[in-house]
Amino acid sequence: MPFFQKIVVDAFTNVYVWKISESFDELFRAVSLKDISLTRLETMKSESHKKGFLAVRMLLQHAGYTDYDLYYDAFGKPNLKDGTHISISHSFEFSTIILSNKNCGIDLELRRDLIKKIARKFAEEPFVYHCDENSSDYVSKLTVIWGVKEAVFKVRNEVGISFKDHIFVSPFEMEAQNTTALLDFNELKIPFEVYFTEIENYTLVWLWEKEL
Ligand SMILES: CC(C)(COP(=O)(O)OP(=O)(O)OC[C@H]1O[C@@H](n2cnc3c(N)ncnc32)[C@H](O)[C@@H]1OP(=O)(O)O)[C@@H](O)C(=O)NCCC(=O)NCCS
Repeated sequence: MPFFQKIVVDAFTNVYVWKISESFDELFRAVSLKDISLTRLETMKSESHKKGFLAVRMLLQHAGYTDYDLYYDAFGKPNLKDGTHISISHSFEFSTIILSNKNCGIDLELRRDLIKKIARKFAEEPFVYHCDENSSDYVSKLTVIWGVKEAVFKVRNEVGISFKDHIFVSPFEMEAQNTTALLDFNELKIPFEVYFTEIENYTLVWLWEKEL
């Protein structure tokens, strides 16, 4: 399946999702790439990463842009030439982008039990999230929390940010599909509005800085 979903978030913000079922060749033929992107593609080792990268270009084209409109800063943060904010994520079978008038971040993660093993490295104690470590909700919630922290990092990629010590996700229920988060790092105290949803066995999170 090619184009999978467009989520209209508000008048100026859209999330686009591609489900990758095409071969590398099919995707490659369908996009036009600038030289620097071709070089990047050649250096990628895994086929899955290459397809994720190309599917992002398919989404750009779907939204009326091309690879020529996209450039990266020295930290790897993507930007669009017309000033529209963009954030990008890919994970195995899916690629996603968010386009907005706000500085936003997006993250897509495959839900895996494995996340329980690293939970204490990035998340608060389970009771903070009213969560039983043995419930199925636990993996879902942990994956949201991980996605939020990755997405916050994509908005504010200051050197030295620790997922565990500087990014805090407010308690939430899965059904709510939204929460808030706080980046508390040195002099910075930035609240975020957070939204999330599940697509098949993936968790999609997007967020932006809250207007005060
Ligand atoms: C940059 C980072 C957030 C990417 O996340 P990821 O889950 O590996 O990969 P994703 O597919 O979700 O995102 C990749 C995209 O993020 C974007 N990205 C990369 N660096 C970025 C940055 N500094 N700022 C914003 N966006 C960035 C790029 O668009 C990239 O895709 P592309 O290069 O194909 O365009 C991640 O690698 C990272 O460095 N995280 C912080 C490390 C950390 O503190 N970990 C905590 C361990 S407890």
